[in-house]
Amino acid sequence: MGGFLAASAFFLSDLTAAEKGNIKRGSEVYLDNCTPCHGIDGDGQGPLGPRLGARDFTKGKFKNGGSEEQLFDTISNGIPPKMPTWKKKLTVQERRDVAAFVRTFVEKK
Ligand code: HEC
Repeated sequence: MGGFLAASAFFLSDLTAAEKGNIKRGSEVYLDNCTPCHGIDGDGQGPLGPRLGARDFTKGKFKNGGSEEQLFDTISNGIPPKMPTWKKKLTVQERRDVAAFVRTFVEKK
């Protein structure tokens, strides 16, 4: 019982703290949704990546800009026809989180 209450309290505080992109949560969104194309290392070498021409994030070059805000827009709207739109599949917060996580590939190089 105490455990259940503590767990709910954790969820609530987690939600209210959610404003800016959170890299750790973004990494989970990324692993669940983006690795088939962009690869675990963000290098575009997922199983479907090379065939589709998925972006290699580690190069730091983006058609629509590489700031967190621009990445958020691209992830939301996709790049037809190959990069899917995520507006309906991911919440605003999840898209912010994953945008913050994509930045970590760019900054790593
Ligand atoms: C079905 C394969 C596929 C999946 C899944 C996928 N992408 Fe992509 N993504 C692509 C392709 C292909 C491109 C290059 C599109 C182009 O340049 O026309 C791309 C490009 C991008 C770009 C670069 C945009 C730019 O301005 O150059 C970003 C950022 C991106 N994807 C983020 C993500 C994120 C985050 C996810 C997971 C939520 C994701 N993608 C899932 C295929 C995919």
